[in-house]
Amino acid sequence: MPEELIVSKIKDGTVIDHIKAGKGKKVLDFLRIDDKYPEIVILLMNVSSKKISKKDIVKVENKFLKQEEVDEIALIAPNATANVIKNYKVVDKLKIKLPKVVEGILKCPNPKCVSNMNEPLTTKFYVEKEEPVTLRCFYCERLMDLKDILR
Ligand code: CTP
Ligand code: ZN
Repeated sequence: MPEELIVSKIKDGTVIDHIKAGKGKKVLDFLRIDDKYPEIVILLMNVSSKKISKKDIVKVENKFLKQEEVDEIALIAPNATANVIKNYKVVDKLKIKLPKVVEGILKCPNPKCVSNMNEPLTTKFYVEKEEPVTLRCFYCERLMDLKDILR
């Protein structure tokens, strides 16, 4: 038997595959998965892949994504696949496409932006351009690219 890394399949939930190596943790953040999430979560980093040199994979038991949540992943993992798992079988592969608006996960890098003041306010960004991704804050209208936001 060849030596290989064996990671269990999940029963029901979502597997995000083909994430560029290093971005898996961020994908979990985007899915709002933190230490409060009560189900099994598997983060695989630096797995060898035929399609891309190294990739990350995220598996979340009993998490089923809305199309908007899937689309948010495109910001950090544009080539990822979202597999829906039901009773151990892949029953759907969701297309990940860049959203037009992103609400609630990103933080505006402008310290004077009203979204950074004390009042709780859900951040909101418009995707203005896709290549490279350029976003505009709904509140302060500042233009920014992903590296401004993903810190
Ligand atoms: N997977 C899992 N649990 C399951 C079924 C699948 O964790 N019960 C994972 C697989 O390990 C793989 C991903 O979900 O990482 C997609 O599974 P599958 O479509 O069977 O793999 P591929 O055909 O290689 O997918 P692709 O063509 O998207 O690369
Ligand atoms: Zn702003």
